[in-house]
Amino acid sequence: MANTAVIGLQWGDEAKGKIVDLLTENHDIVVRYQGGANAGHTVVTGGQTFKLSLIPSGIFRPNVQCVIANGVVVNPKTLLAEIDGLRKRGVRVGGNLMISSRAHVILPWHVEEDRILNECPTGEAIGTTLRGIGPCYRDKIGRSQAVRVGDFYEAGWRERISAVAESKRRMLEPLGVAADSPALDAQAICGEYADYAERLRPFVSDTTQFLLDAVDSGQRILFEGAQGALLDIDHGTFPYVTSSNSSGMGIPAGAGVPGRHIHKVLGVVKAYCTRVGGGPFPTEQDNEIGQHIRQRGQEYGTVTRRPRRCGWFDAVAARYTARLSGTDAIAVMLLDVLSALPEIRICTAYELDGERTDRFPDHVERLRRVQPVFESLPGWQKEISDVRRLGDLPANARKYLDRLGEVVGRPVEIVSVGPDRAQTIFA
Ligand code: IMP
Repeated sequence: MANTAVIGLQWGDEAKGKIVDLLTENHDIVVRYQGGANAGHTVVTGGQTFKLSLIPSGIFRPNVQCVIANGVVVNPKTLLAEIDGLRKRGVRVGGNLMISSRAHVILPWHVEEDRILNECPTGEAIGTTLRGIGPCYRDKIGRSQAVRVGDFYEAGWRERISAVAESKRRMLEPLGVAADSPALDAQAICGEYADYAERLRPFVSDTTQFLLDAVDSGQRILFEGAQGALLDIDHGTFPYVTSSNSSGMGIPAGAGVPGRHIHKVLGVVKAYCTRVGGGPFPTEQDNEIGQHIRQRGQEYGTVTRRPRRCGWFDAVAARYTARLSGTDAIAVMLLDVLSALPEIRICTAYELDGERTDRFPDHVERLRRVQPVFESLPGWQKEISDVRRLGDLPANARKYLDRLGEVVGRPVEIVSVGPDRAQTIFA
């Protein structure tokens, strides 16, 4: 199989970074194609832990080309800090990183807008990461106030930034942003961004053409999804979603590579479920079970440090997103987190308005009303972080994995029992 996609099938934070890092060995190129610095990908390598938000997780492998493609929204300050941080720790970041000239740029006003417009008419906040992601994508679709990476290398870019800053001022002043806010200071912003643009210049190119050439010459591409498919702007739990297509749907548009060139899709799930931010979460355990999972799994946001909401595995949701993302097989992550529990539950259906269904509702208000139907399985109460072969797992852990594969409808191909590369079982 040449080209592979790694997609989160839940609400993000499925430990995709580890899987991408593992699979990178068999690929030539790793591509981020949506999202931005709202993502937090953790890679543990050589005993060191790295947190990435914009740079593809392939950066740790020599000879792998990393691409931040057109569908990503780039905060240049965050990106440069990430590059500096990696270099300081001895990781090469040079010609092995490319940034699309078509990617959209996050500007200071986007962060202000995110703060102001995070509220939802239903009263429950979306609970965004406040990184300006939604406002930047909104400007991309709106076009007139959008700024792309390539704009900084064309004559007249300062005038354009100044004009956009002025129209943002007119929009944001009535919403309470002071006219002299640093987030609207065109002169200061131009100075700051001129510096970023110069530093990023060596990385910027036409990644669409590069990837199309790579497809033609048979190079092996790995597409690294950010967030999870339930946060997909079109197919997720709208409006409690992110602003990009975080299911497999995002790849063709976000990278410029037609879907027919994606040969294998690996769906990544946790052995349980988590969610950060607002929105319904049918299997949530807002009790001692949830607390236990949060403690053992260190379930705190990589980007915002918010405690993640925790609950049992939701097979109704995962089956839906596995189909949606064209998933061939699944990787089950963080199985070790469940080790101490006497009983483990899987949600296999929902009760909705008195009827049982295995369909994932298409409206958030109906999703709020579902009652999960749980199946109970015995736990294994034995530490498994040192296990390296499926046959060496406790029988109840194997039964749990078999059942997950059945209810999701896809074979389990990889099992993770700890953060390190070595703590992985290939089924
Ligand atoms: P935004 O992407 O910052 O606009 O946030 C929208 C929703 O997506 C919020 O509920 C966030 O908590 C969630 N979200 C965004 N990025 C991630 C991620 O990488 N992991 C988990 N949740 C995320």
